[in-house]
Amino acid sequence: MKDKKLYINTIGCQMNVYDSDRIARVLAPVGYRMTDTLEAADLVIVNTCAIRAKAEQKAFSFIGRLAKMKRRNPDLLIGVGGCVAQQEGDAILSRMPHVDLVFGTHAIPRLPRIVGKVTSGRTRVVDVVASDEIDEIDLAGGFQSDGQVSRFVTIMQGCDNYCTYCVVPYVRGAEMSRHPDQILSEIQSLVRSGMREVTLLGQNVNSYGRKEGLPSFAALLEQVNDVEGLRRIRFTTSHPKDLSEDLMAAFGRLDKLCPHIHLPVQSGSDRVLKRMNRKYTRQIYLDRVERLRRIRPDIAVTSDFIVGFPGESTADFEDTLSLVETVAFDSIFAFMYSDREIAPASRFKTKIDENEKKDRLQKLLTTQEKITLAKNRMLVGTHQEIMVEGGSTRPGLAESLDEGPQWSGRTPGNKIVNFSLGGDADPAPPPRVGEMVDVSIEKAFSHSLRGGLVRRERSHDCSGREECHAA
Ligand code: SAH
Ligand code: SF4
Ligand code: F3S
Repeated sequence: MKDKKLYINTIGCQMNVYDSDRIARVLAPVGYRMTDTLEAADLVIVNTCAIRAKAEQKAFSFIGRLAKMKRRNPDLLIGVGGCVAQQEGDAILSRMPHVDLVFGTHAIPRLPRIVGKVTSGRTRVVDVVASDEIDEIDLAGGFQSDGQVSRFVTIMQGCDNYCTYCVVPYVRGAEMSRHPDQILSEIQSLVRSGMREVTLLGQNVNSYGRKEGLPSFAALLEQVNDVEGLRRIRFTTSHPKDLSEDLMAAFGRLDKLCPHIHLPVQSGSDRVLKRMNRKYTRQIYLDRVERLRRIRPDIAVTSDFIVGFPGESTADFEDTLSLVETVAFDSIFAFMYSDREIAPASRFKTKIDENEKKDRLQKLLTTQEKITLAKNRMLVGTHQEIMVEGGSTRPGLAESLDEGPQWSGRTPGNKIVNFSLGGDADPAPPPRVGEMVDVSIEKAFSHSLRGGLVRRERSHDCSGREECHAA
């Protein structure tokens, strides 16, 4: 069987990154190999996101551009998956005549059959059937080692929270948790292929297992912490309403659990939180952050915000700004509210003017930027443990600063650090991706830190050379 080439364009959240990985895995046994070159592809898949209008437009504009490629090469197959596919279904086929297959968020295990049907019968296929079972795919083949040291593993699908602005419960379906055995065997298999850091994914990992009567999320973390060879555990996202005492305590107990929590608050106003159906108050949020910091004083706290939610007054927005000042987040993501037809907030009155939304977004980001910079500056002079993830993401940095090769990685608190080997022509073998090193932080910026290597991982192969940095 001749290999065919698969190109995947992933838009949206980490769930989609993980799903794209699963798409590649299920299509490998039927002869598809990944390519990074769009022009070389026999099958192009667009894994879409519907969270905001902009994400949806991005998908449609990319799919639109594929029409030309299809005219040049009529054998090219084009597939649309993910959250927009789930939401729009058939409508994508009528709107985009060059698309061959549309598959929803539960159809990934059925992809080989769907693609087979399209190629054999030259028919167009839509599969947006929602399922009430977790869609496990067969992992029997294990993972090919592809050098990725940090990976995502989904522990649950869907969401039952129905925040009034959000499409996720409609496009991802009801919340369902994977069995711990499946999760652990996937993590073990990934560790064998070189993974050292795992990020456990779910829309609300705090309610993991509750519906199914499985062990709690804190209990799952405990089991993941015992996986040999794994060095770091992260997770996202936590819903503040379900942040249990047990989970908070895990931060003080589990050695592999990184001191970072992404805890989206969305707004600092109780009135807005209520209309968003978030089910916690500003005070509850503040109390939980305080408790986390008491348990783990160095914990990094990050968050998501929506500005310009329907009916958000200037006083409500001021409450958001004051919450940001009070909590002093390490960093935040902030979005302008985007109407989604499926979600009830689209029918709420008093929409906020686009320019006003932009203004509020700017104010929020400026307020946070100062805090982020101040927090990053507090790390200057400290030593941080970094897991090397690759060369510096800022090309040109090394040459312009004349500091030799640059490497990058993240602190336990998830801050990006670019570092050099230090000293003059350093003879030590360059750090390997996945190596844990200590870096002395010398400079702070608003989106990253810079420093110099002070210690290599003990186990690396330096053959005992004297000049090696390892202690
Ligand atoms: N499950 C996560 C968030 C998933 S969506 C949670 O509950 O926190 C990621 C972020 O997108 C949300 O936190 C929210 O800030 C933003 N978002 C979701 N719907 C949006 C909308 N309609 N307009 C603007 N931002 C939105
Ligand atoms: Fe959306 Fe709310 Fe579910 Fe998060 S918790 S995915 S914001 S409905
Ligand atoms: Fe987007 Fe779907 Fe994720 S809507 S944010 S890709 S769950």
